[in-house]
Amino acid sequence: MSTVQKGVAIIRFCFILKHFLREEMKINKKSKQKTIGDFMRFAMWTWGRSNISGMRFFLRVGLRLLLAKKRKAKNQKNIKGFIPAVIAISPTMRCNYNCRGCYSRSRISNNELLTSELDFLYSEAEELGVLSIVVTGGEPYLRSDTIELMEKHKRLLFIPITNGSKITGELANRIAKSGNIIQLVSIEGFEEHTDNRRKKGSYKTASIAMELLRNAGACFGFAATNTSENSKFLGSDIFIDRMIELGCTLGYFTEYVPCGPHPQKKWLLSEEERNFFREKVLDFRKRKPIVLIQFPQDEYGEENRCTAAGIASLHINSEGGIEPCPFIDISVENIRTGGLKAACESPFLKAIRERGNLLQRDKLACSLFEHYSELEELARKM
Ligand SMILES: C[S@@+](CC[C@H](N)C(=O)[O-])C[C@H]1O[C@@H](n2cnc3c(N)ncnc32)[C@H](O)[C@@H]1O
Ligand code: SF4
Repeated sequence: MSTVQKGVAIIRFCFILKHFLREEMKINKKSKQKTIGDFMRFAMWTWGRSNISGMRFFLRVGLRLLLAKKRKAKNQKNIKGFIPAVIAISPTMRCNYNCRGCYSRSRISNNELLTSELDFLYSEAEELGVLSIVVTGGEPYLRSDTIELMEKHKRLLFIPITNGSKITGELANRIAKSGNIIQLVSIEGFEEHTDNRRKKGSYKTASIAMELLRNAGACFGFAATNTSENSKFLGSDIFIDRMIELGCTLGYFTEYVPCGPHPQKKWLLSEEERNFFREKVLDFRKRKPIVLIQFPQDEYGEENRCTAAGIASLHINSEGGIEPCPFIDISVENIRTGGLKAACESPFLKAIRERGNLLQRDKLACSLFEHYSELEELARKM
């Protein structure tokens, strides 16, 4: 690299740093409604300022996200719908666990998207200006192409979620080196809660996975499903401190949604439990060096409005079906006929967006699941 090129690169980095610092400062303004995007940016900044390779990660991802936002704004003019900022994708619904209450256990996975189809999908996402891909399932690392494709598509920020069972030292190193992956490892509280909901030994497996990620220098966090059984423990200082000790930069709480083959009604949070947990999260945010994101509160915001169905996100299932979100197993269109543009222009998702009541939640954590039968009816009419 010549001196001039180095100079240009430094100026470019300074510009991004300035932009991101400005955005980061906004997070502290009490008046601003924080979005999940704000929290993710804050998590990257927290990771970035903790070490040199973290700062490199923050600056590179920052630059790519800025460019992606520009592409998104430009392409949006030619799309009859929305280009979502985030796409959740389940490369497989197969899993080596059988966790109680998991929404994916009733899904069939016998016609999975091929590597070439996923590759094409990610290229389209890059071109359209999608910012981030949440890789879920099933267990995404049951497919060896999961890491290969994430490494290949550098213009996307990948957030894979795993049970941790396939994380080896080698995989952790690849995740750390990729420069475009923030890994989430699922855990349900302490050993008792995790082993009880997931499987015997799963707490240890998840903890070892986190240790491997920490030793490799990866940016990672935990994902926990919040139920009436584990809420008290997830909301305790000792749990959060343990996650910090394991090296988590962020934590993602999802309130249990009673979907899937064996819905657990007894796990639903009462209004009191929900309010109590929210208070705990807000309190931790002031006191703990970890970025915490809470679903549905941080997604729905003050307007109590779901941002799935293509507004800010959508879900592509393992067979290419275009779904409003991972909790809803209803699709009308498929990316195999029309690609990602078809997902952005999906008439089914548009119809959901046009019926505002479907996006407002009442008692459950997910408004779309709350209106499941209306969605089925809507899909039948398409
Ligand atoms: C379906 S899993 C797929 C990824 C991977 N197998 C794992 O366990 O992390 C993604 C996340 O969804 C959570 N989850 C599963 N069923 C849920 C439900 N009914 N309500 C809320 N979260 C759920 C899991 O606990 C996990 O954190
Ligand atoms: S939560 Fe994840 S690990 Fe557990 S059964 Fe579901 S997909 Fe598998």
